[in-house]
Amino acid sequence: MAHGSFLNALLRKKAVVDDVDNIGLKRCLSAFDLTLMGIGAIIGTGIFVLTGVAAATTSGPAVIISFVLAGLACAFAALAYAELASSVGGAGSAYGYSYAAFGEFIAWIIGWDLILEYGVATAAVANGWAGYFNNALHAIGLGLPDYLTKGPFAVNAATGLPDGGIVNLPAFGIIFVLMIMLIVGVKESAKINTAMVFVKLMAIVIFLSVGIFHINPENWSPFIPFGWFSHDELGKPLGIFAGASVVFFAYVGFDAVSTATAEANKPQRDIPIGILCSLIFCTLIYIIVSGVLTGMVSYKELNVSSPVAFGLQRVGVNWASALVATGVIAGLTTVMLVLYYALTRILTAMSRDGLVSPFFASVNSKTQTPVKNTVICGLIMAVMAGFIPLNALAELVNIGTLTAFVLVCIGVIVLRFTHPDLKRPFKMPYGIVLSVLGVISCALLIIPLPWQTHLRFVLWLAVGLVIYFAYGIRKSHLRKPE
Ligand code: ALA
Repeated sequence: MAHGSFLNALLRKKAVVDDVDNIGLKRCLSAFDLTLMGIGAIIGTGIFVLTGVAAATTSGPAVIISFVLAGLACAFAALAYAELASSVGGAGSAYGYSYAAFGEFIAWIIGWDLILEYGVATAAVANGWAGYFNNALHAIGLGLPDYLTKGPFAVNAATGLPDGGIVNLPAFGIIFVLMIMLIVGVKESAKINTAMVFVKLMAIVIFLSVGIFHINPENWSPFIPFGWFSHDELGKPLGIFAGASVVFFAYVGFDAVSTATAEANKPQRDIPIGILCSLIFCTLIYIIVSGVLTGMVSYKELNVSSPVAFGLQRVGVNWASALVATGVIAGLTTVMLVLYYALTRILTAMSRDGLVSPFFASVNSKTQTPVKNTVICGLIMAVMAGFIPLNALAELVNIGTLTAFVLVCIGVIVLRFTHPDLKRPFKMPYGIVLSVLGVISCALLIIPLPWQTHLRFVLWLAVGLVIYFAYGIRKSHLRKPE
């Protein structure tokens, strides 16, 4: 390929679709539905599990501030998402509109990032789910042996020493259950989602209304035991910023709202409202829940697999603990379903564009679902969920998602210059300034992640580049015959 045509290939774009009406899907989602969809995809392992891990190991009670910082970075990115979703249009989330706005190469990187985000996040949430599920089994006297509840690489966070088992069997198993549900054809109806969001929110309401009466303010002191930004003797990042880069996981999923542009009643208005309202709501919930939890129990005790239920047990309210655990088990199932579903659909979209094998777009005529795609993704995620510990998975998701957010913020800036006249029904206020702040704050959250996570991410990108240059660039449907 000649030098010029090589560059042209990297920059080839899909048409900018600023008329989102021409996609043909039924418009049935209101701003309220979209907000619930966001809340459905957002609230999960981040708040129900990682709050405890972050409080115990990186932030102390100041995990509350970690949540605020991570929420702020997400707010900039959310505004950028809202502007792109409303102006560039089309379904398919950041991958779809970055293809139209920035060209194939950046679209590939964002798509590859989203595969990481949704795939590894599903495995991570399966791990969080398994923590609550194992506890529930123990409570009814059917507990699994320890070695079937953690993978071989598990580390005792308190001592830093290996503490592995054989496999996290429930985490492995739940992915298969979800796989079968998605193959059979689970319709993500707004009603089911609303019901599940309700169950999750009930779990939170029960936790808060019981927990608030068991706060001992002494537990908030010292409030910042690990400082803002420090390291332990092994070089592991500590402090509020490190905590923010871990609990950032709790916000992953708000971008899922942007995939519904084509089905929103008034996308230019409803998508930004859906994204921003769900984000604001979840940020508030996270601040309150982490405040109450660290007030109920010393942060030092919170490095457990189901901290919210543990907190209630610890203050002696076992009935509430059981109820909350049940709500969490149901609530985390929907998060996994939405993320798993999103993963298969992103792959389908990339496959339809020719960037990955047509194998991923083939739809089974009986079930009318992408069975092969769903099975391959499920097998890989089940292995990850069964064998890799939650923290490592969550950190990898975070670095991938933060990178996608950085690119989305840069995208807003680029488009403001290259397409100044593009119709922007939702225009990010102080667009350039806030986008730059988005780039900086997301980049700042990437820095404290462990070096192993950086390395894994670079490897992931390298694999992505090999696939793109060996396959996608040649097979892209936008390729013109030479
Ligand atoms: N934000 C989602 C969770 O915390 C991925 O589980």
